[in-house]
Amino acid sequence: MLRTLTILTAILVTPIWAQDELPDAAGKAETVRVCTGCHGAEMFSTSHKTADDWDRTITTMTEKGLAISDADYATVLDYLSKNLAPMPAKVNVNKAASADLVRVLGITAAQADAIVAYRVKNGDFKDVDGVKKVAGVDAAAIDAKKDRIVF
Ligand code: HEC
Repeated sequence: MLRTLTILTAILVTPIWAQDELPDAAGKAETVRVCTGCHGAEMFSTSHKTADDWDRTITTMTEKGLAISDADYATVLDYLSKNLAPMPAKVNVNKAASADLVRVLGITAAQADAIVAYRVKNGDFKDVDGVKKVAGVDAAAIDAKKDRIVF
């Protein structure tokens, strides 16, 4: 019963909010407090920018009426710069953390975790076909991003 509920919750919740979710890390609470007064987090949660560009974004928001303390400015800028940084073009499937597999390949966290678990158990991947064969991984999604995978 608990299992069924967990699966149901995952099905219901994941597709709707996954894209708009801000990464869990230090500074998230402050960022949500400071940045979601006028629009939702989805306004920026899928952006990937350099620290300079995030700095400019915050400045633009102050021009739109955002009032922010110096302490919050530093925290929010740090959070955005670290967690919504420009996406690396490629990812090493034998070394990357699960979160980077999600970011670069656009797969779900569950699929990325399956890739990491597989490699821990079976050793390094040698080719894209090996990645596609991992149970639970969407082979078509991997194929679509195969130019971004290195070994
Ligand atoms: C005082 C209100 C206000 C606050 C607070 C606010 N914004 Fe905005 N933001 C706006 C408005 C107004 C727009 C333009 C909305 C539109 O185009 O529909 C906007 C648009 C944006 C955009 C898209 C346009 C662009 O310039 O790239 C991003 C990204 C953004 N905000 C990020 C942030 C971040 C990050 C924070 C927190 C530091 C924040 N906003 C806080 C008012 C605000």
